[in-house]
Amino acid sequence: MSSGEHVPQGSLPSSPQIAPADGQLAVFCVGLGAVATTLIAGVEAIRGGSEQPIGSLSQFGTVRLGRRDEQRVTRIGDLVPLASLPQLDFCAWDPYPDDAFVAATRAGVLDQPSIERVGAYLRTVRPLPAVFDSSYVTQVNGPNTRGEETHRQRVEAIRADITTFMEAKGSSRGVMVWTGSTEALLPDHEAYHSLEAFEAALDRSDRAIAPSMLYAYAGLGLGLPFVNCSPNLSIDTPALTRYATEHSAAIAGKDLKTGQTMVKTVLAPMIKARMLGLSGWYSTNILGNRDGEVLQDPDSFRAKEQSKLGVLEGIMQPELYPELYGDIEHQVSINYYPPRGDNKEGWDNIDIFGWLGYPMQLKVNFLCRDSILAAPLVLDLLLFADLAQRAGMRGIQEWLSFYFKSPQSAPGVYPEHDLFIQLTKLKNTLRFLAGEEPITHLGLEYYDYFS
Ligand SMILES: NC(=O)c1ccc[n+]([C@@H]2O[C@H](COP(=O)([O-])OP(=O)(O)OC[C@H]3O[C@@H](n4cnc5c(N)ncnc54)[C@H](O)[C@@H]3O)[C@@H](O)[C@H]2O)c1
Repeated sequence: MSSGEHVPQGSLPSSPQIAPADGQLAVFCVGLGAVATTLIAGVEAIRGGSEQPIGSLSQFGTVRLGRRDEQRVTRIGDLVPLASLPQLDFCAWDPYPDDAFVAATRAGVLDQPSIERVGAYLRTVRPLPAVFDSSYVTQVNGPNTRGEETHRQRVEAIRADITTFMEAKGSSRGVMVWTGSTEALLPDHEAYHSLEAFEAALDRSDRAIAPSMLYAYAGLGLGLPFVNCSPNLSIDTPALTRYATEHSAAIAGKDLKTGQTMVKTVLAPMIKARMLGLSGWYSTNILGNRDGEVLQDPDSFRAKEQSKLGVLEGIMQPELYPELYGDIEHQVSINYYPPRGDNKEGWDNIDIFGWLGYPMQLKVNFLCRDSILAAPLVLDLLLFADLAQRAGMRGIQEWLSFYFKSPQSAPGVYPEHDLFIQLTKLKNTLRFLAGEEPITHLGLEYYDYFS
């Protein structure tokens, strides 16, 4: 990144006091599938010293402070107080009863020797019975589910699980992460529009309230931050955003930006930065893990499709550049192809046009590993959500939009999709939290233009 001038502190609120990251942090994973087990196995391997946290900004990233000629660069972990990996205790719910060892083996992301090396720890992470309803995720049908009859009882059961685990571990704080399946796309409902309507819907156990919302409501009510790794609506409603704010809980979502969309949010700003035209973007994937299977269901795919499609329009701003981006054909598909397992392959064909309208093409073939890309993002998110919580930053954490395909933003504020603007926003937030000046990258102060 280039660098530059500072914004006067006066234009910002003063940096908050951040409570220290003392004690154990309980991490509640809703869903113990490919992403969650890859995260947990990786954290345990890193704690044991056999692996490095590759792909994790919170562990490897640095932040420049002050002017470029001051040469002040610090590790993120030295700038702000983050929980350390040995402080993390994992708890999970899943309708499949397999412990994290069996679930990791079945997910097929990590090879068997890597799983065996941390096997003793993985065997201790046994999923609690899930609040689950197969009509929201038709391809999942495990027996490890709860039997409560009303939504209020389900919420209370989740809360009891949380407090029991935290008491057993002596945790000082908790954070909840939805690493569960993609639920079917839900039509708009009045229950989402206000907290009063949501709570009335809870009281009558309305089907508009999906399991992911019940978990979120349960955790937020106990003051736990909630991170949504899936495209599920869950916390992305005025009702639950307000509930989070009222309970001083941080929320971040939604849908991890890992493979194809990460590439899209780098290439699209490049095309736009040069004012090249864009006539079409065809994205297709093959994926053979359970997430791919769940996404075969048209209703679950619609949730994913929406979050994948929104990115391009957000970046290109066709309303400002109708000649360049007013007529983009954008197609996205995901094909379930079991032989590939978690090793997703994405193809992008991008039709652009340049000077005098001459057409050109860009082709991208990304052979990635879905959960290998996702796991470090979840680690960063849970650590940063805990940081935000200790800093008293309640509600939507827009500075974490770096991690998401469909970043949540304040009403009336369009989400920022460009990966490097998102990174700048994240680092400036860390500077702000540390009482350092944000950096605008203006850079005029190094030159004697105006004297
Ligand atoms: N892997 C990636 O790179 C990536 C990227 C972006 C988003 N995501 C999203 O992250 C989520 C998890 O992905 P994954 O690959 O680990 O999927 P997965 O299918 O391997 O695991 C999801 C798990 O959630 C469980 N589950 C479903 N409903 C539940 C409920 N109500 N309560 C508790 N558990 C429940 C399922 O039984 C399953 O074990 C998905 O929504 C996916 O779309 C993943």
